[in-house]
Amino acid sequence: MFNIAIDQNQPTADFYNDLKSSAVALVDGEPDAIANMANIAALIWQYVPGLNWAGFYRVIDGELVLGPFQGKAACIRIAMGAGVCGAAAATGQVQRVADVHAFPGHIACDADSRSELVVPVTNNGKVIAVLDLDSPLPDHFSAEDEQAMVALIGAISKNLG
Ligand code: SME
Repeated sequence: MFNIAIDQNQPTADFYNDLKSSAVALVDGEPDAIANMANIAALIWQYVPGLNWAGFYRVIDGELVLGPFQGKAACIRIAMGAGVCGAAAATGQVQRVADVHAFPGHIACDADSRSELVVPVTNNGKVIAVLDLDSPLPDHFSAEDEQAMVALIGAISKNLG
């Protein structure tokens, strides 16, 4: 067991710095992408407030396939370009969606989800997976959350695929 303690009451920038350092430490020296995704999903789920789902979809043979996650059981396969996750994977662009009901083609795996942040995971210029964070709160994710998650994923992406 890893002993990780992150102060959730410190300034947001410091919180995210600690979260990123913990993520880097968790995957350090471990080449297995599934094991690493499992630990990163657990880390985010434990410390990031306001989530009802946190996890990964992997790009396999041109579609997204459910990977390690925390939250309710979810859709297993998502076509490239479909929904918020598919848009992130197809474009390589972060999707920060304040109201998922207003997003064309949103896939409602969990009816509780109201806002969503999806960060592409790239390796050698290719999207190999996406990190999907869902919240039951409308407009939950800020630009600071987006930047922090992009930085976190960028720091560990070589160990995710
Ligand atoms: N809502 C996502 C699907 C994945 S689940 O939320 C876990 C989407 O539209 O891509």
